[in-house]
Amino acid sequence: MTRLLVRDLAQLTTPAPGATPARGARLGEVAVVEGAYVLCEDGLITATGAMRELGPLDGDVEELDGRGLSAVPGLVDCHTHPAFGGDRVEEFALRAGGASYEELHAAGGGILATVRATRAAGERGLGEAVRRHRHWMLRAGTTTWEGKSGYGLDRTTELASLRAVRDAGGSPTWLGAHAVPPEFDDADAYLDFALAEVLPAAAEVADAADVFLERGAFDAEQARRYLTACRDAGLALRLHGDQFTESGAVPLALELGARSVDHLEATGPEGISALAASDVAAVLLPASALFLDRPMPPARALVDAGAAVALATDFNPGSAFCESLPLVCSLAATQLHLRPAEALTACTLNAAHVLGQGDRVGRVAPGYAADLVLLDAPDWRHLAYHLGGPVIAAVVRAGRVEWEQ
Ligand code: NIG
Ligand code: FE
Repeated sequence: MTRLLVRDLAQLTTPAPGATPARGARLGEVAVVEGAYVLCEDGLITATGAMRELGPLDGDVEELDGRGLSAVPGLVDCHTHPAFGGDRVEEFALRAGGASYEELHAAGGGILATVRATRAAGERGLGEAVRRHRHWMLRAGTTTWEGKSGYGLDRTTELASLRAVRDAGGSPTWLGAHAVPPEFDDADAYLDFALAEVLPAAAEVADAADVFLERGAFDAEQARRYLTACRDAGLALRLHGDQFTESGAVPLALELGARSVDHLEATGPEGISALAASDVAAVLLPASALFLDRPMPPARALVDAGAAVALATDFNPGSAFCESLPLVCSLAATQLHLRPAEALTACTLNAAHVLGQGDRVGRVAPGYAADLVLLDAPDWRHLAYHLGGPVIAAVVRAGRVEWEQ
């Protein structure tokens, strides 16, 4: 048995016990223990509590000194696009000078520029890129993550993307409907190909499917066709929806029983009420809104209405070159008007729920995965307070120290 005792923590903080996902007032309910320990055995948490209650431990135990540090659950990034070649720094500079993201996309840049670079990277290059990006995420405290394909849009590169995510330890999502690649005349012709030629093999590797439902990408009818076929192949469903326009993503997600609609920057009161009354999670991506200088999603209204709200980075080379969930927590506190405790639950327990892992990931409690982030601050709220920080002292994943400062 491998055992790790994280001892003498200044604070240990976790989403409070209760139903998953946490909604409404429960989103902000966290349990805080001062002077705490966490015992991990064979990759799982077996005990937590106050140091003064810790009895003697027999046998071999590795120890991690938590003095002066605070611990929270390993962070869960439920929306990332790590499988890409190249970068979009040129486009970033053009946008800084006034060009819009949608204009660049319409002119064959944007997503399609990354498609060209990703196809050119090859399977080995793609594997290296995903491992590199996964390491960036780990250093920022992310221990569980989803990774989408969607920059291949041909059979070989889409399947290589999904395998690269799986092999790096992520949960793969087939974003087969991200954009229409140049070799097809229109979205319907591309979907004919993707559903016949790629879906059967993608469904063997992926956990979920995703679609970009937006003007200039796929419309609601095309998204329904794609998602229905993916659901029939056994995949869970996600949608990129209401990023720029309300184009029917929320009603479609409800109709098909999707796990989430992600973005929601353009969602109005009807969409908020519909999500709140449903089992479809609202995944908010404030780093993307910031990076594109777009309106922030209606986070406060979604939480207050009772929606299952999660936070994620949307890490990708175009609209959110940001792998840091702590930065997302800072944006949640300063831009979305969520309290630090709400942000914490949204990027741990609720994000794990979006990935179908809410019963075993996202809390510091016996039976959950032994995933922890140790912050170099005695108060865990530095997670959101320290803009561009906080300093992460150590990251524990499956009961092992995977990264240390
Ligand atoms: O979630 N909106 C669509 N897809 C990504 C961005 C992709 C890109 O710009 O490369 C997103 O923001
Ligand atoms: Fe995205």
